[in-house]
Amino acid sequence: MSPFAKIRTVGIDLGTSSIKISAGPRKLKFPSIIGEPNPGFRGITMDKSWENNLVIELENGEEYYVGELARLQSLVKIPLAREGRMKSAKDALIAVKAALGLIAERPEEVFVIATGVPVATGQAEMETLSRSIVGTHEIRIKNDATGDKKIAKVKIVAAPVMPEPYGSWYYVLKKKGEKTAIDSVIIDIGYGSTDILTIYNGTILRTASGSIVEAIDTIVTKLAQYLNEKTGRMIKPEMLISTIEKGLMAVNIGGTTYDISPQINALSEYVARVIADELARLLDTLPPDALIKYFILVGGGVYLLGPKLKEALLARGFVKSPEQIIIPDDPVMSNAMGFELVAQYYSQRLLGGK
Ligand SMILES: Nc1ncnc2c1ncn2[C@@H]1O[C@H](COP(=O)(O)OP(=O)(O)OP(=O)(O)O)[C@@H](O)[C@H]1O
Ligand SMILES: [Mg+2]
Repeated sequence: MSPFAKIRTVGIDLGTSSIKISAGPRKLKFPSIIGEPNPGFRGITMDKSWENNLVIELENGEEYYVGELARLQSLVKIPLAREGRMKSAKDALIAVKAALGLIAERPEEVFVIATGVPVATGQAEMETLSRSIVGTHEIRIKNDATGDKKIAKVKIVAAPVMPEPYGSWYYVLKKKGEKTAIDSVIIDIGYGSTDILTIYNGTILRTASGSIVEAIDTIVTKLAQYLNEKTGRMIKPEMLISTIEKGLMAVNIGGTTYDISPQINALSEYVARVIADELARLLDTLPPDALIKYFILVGGGVYLLGPKLKEALLARGFVKSPEQIIIPDDPVMSNAMGFELVAQYYSQRLLGGK
């Protein structure tokens, strides 16, 4: 029997605001931050889930809060990615290990992990992360709410690291049953950035890929400013995220309901236009034989901006027919799910399959 007879595959999408993990039926999402422990502030928490109370103990004895626990409790928070790029491979590895600790089911397991990082991350940083993931790790995690501990010994036999939207491209092509690499553009509208990735002849065309800061953050920030001026109350942008996620067009401030549909409409149009402008700039650099068949729209921002962006793509002639614009069933998880398929591809090759 091959030493890799039981390879588990995991896909990770390490974004600027959240990390998504796909491992078979398990799907996880937590904020893209780690932080210094702040046990003095431990509250009486109702939520005792591992995901929201995750602490990792490193080999050198250091402890970090990971994800939601870091967001809520750490005084010193370390973002894993910012301005469209991964900040430090060392910090990213801590989050990857913590995620694996959650996923591990048996004391010793073999994994292939494919990870996506923001588009503006340099090649050297991506290689450093890949090299540091490969190998044997003893992962120690702790549930801060219950005090439960878990130790998992994992052997990672391959760890490709690629730009995030590649995951969705792979996912969409596999689901469509495409057998060859199809020239495509993937637009990933996140919270803190919109990433654009162009794939030509099966490889990532760096010159026609990039990242802009206009995304959902732009909309909630400008909307908060408007409401501050209108109501004289302090409205934080984060407070408007759930309004956007629920698709609401009105907010309640101090007992008064405000219709925000004109503002949301105007802001969505503005962000969709900025994305289309950037796309035009990037596509101008394409070689003449590149024939972009698919425009794949992903990221949670698609729920709000998808319709406006579709309109813009058609109006500007980037696409000839609406069928060329594809939104996967779960545009938030599709990168991670695609990377899981990439990990499966690597593991089949290791197992000596096709
Ligand atoms: N079902 C939904 N309806 C409307 N908005 C949503 C939905 N799901 C997520 N969003 C919003 O879309 C935005 C982007 O979500 P996403 O998970 O893609 O961001 P992210 O990947 O964490 O950000 P980044 O790519 O910048 O790191 C978030 O602000 C989120 O609130
Ligand atoms: Mg994202």
